[in-house]
Amino acid sequence: MERGRKPQNCNYLYILSRSFNEQYLYEVKKIAVFASGAGSNAARIIDRFRVHKSIHITLIVCNNPDAGVLNIAEKENIPALIIEKERFFRGDAYIKELKEKKIDFIVLAGFLWKIPDTLIKVFRDKIINIHPALLPKYGGKGMYGPAVHEAVIAAKEKESGITIHYVDELYDHGKIIFQAKCPVPENDNAGSLAQRIHALEHEYYPKVIEDLIVK
Ligand code: GRF
Repeated sequence: MERGRKPQNCNYLYILSRSFNEQYLYEVKKIAVFASGAGSNAARIIDRFRVHKSIHITLIVCNNPDAGVLNIAEKENIPALIIEKERFFRGDAYIKELKEKKIDFIVLAGFLWKIPDTLIKVFRDKIINIHPALLPKYGGKGMYGPAVHEAVIAAKEKESGITIHYVDELYDHGKIIFQAKCPVPENDNAGSLAQRIHALEHEYYPKVIEDLIVK
């Protein structure tokens, strides 16, 4: 019988054989999403890959037990790992957990701690981040949340945007993968700019992740 051809009166077997074939046709890459906050980007990423032939959101890693992203993980039935500061910066047991879950790729979506060198070594060129400005400007230590947009406005920039980049040992420094721009009107404030930037992030981050992983 031709592969994928539906045999008559045998829907169940057809579904079984189709999923068996798919399991061997596509290599599934497992993603861990690291987030500390509301998780609106994490939600868009989960949404895009909920049913995907080669990308699976396997784990949410969070450093804040009150973060909104944990509610999203629970609702979506995605295991969550809450990580404490000491364990993250001084121990590396959590790396063992990432390996046990066979994580291939780490996506930072509003994760507020600097990624330790030990983790970068294990996942070299396999960790990406999204930054709410056009790097290399407006990046570095302390440049997150409203501080980024306030700095852009104070400098009277005419445009801002998003940067998706690899994570290396320095803050907001790794190779740039993708940027998208938006205007900064004269009467803009940090709140309205943040909304425009969030819309760009939601539009592009899931798509860029997909392009990067399924290439
Ligand atoms: C985003 O603006 C992202 O650029 C930055 O952190 C923010 C996270 O927002 N790294 P959310 O929690 O995904 O809504």
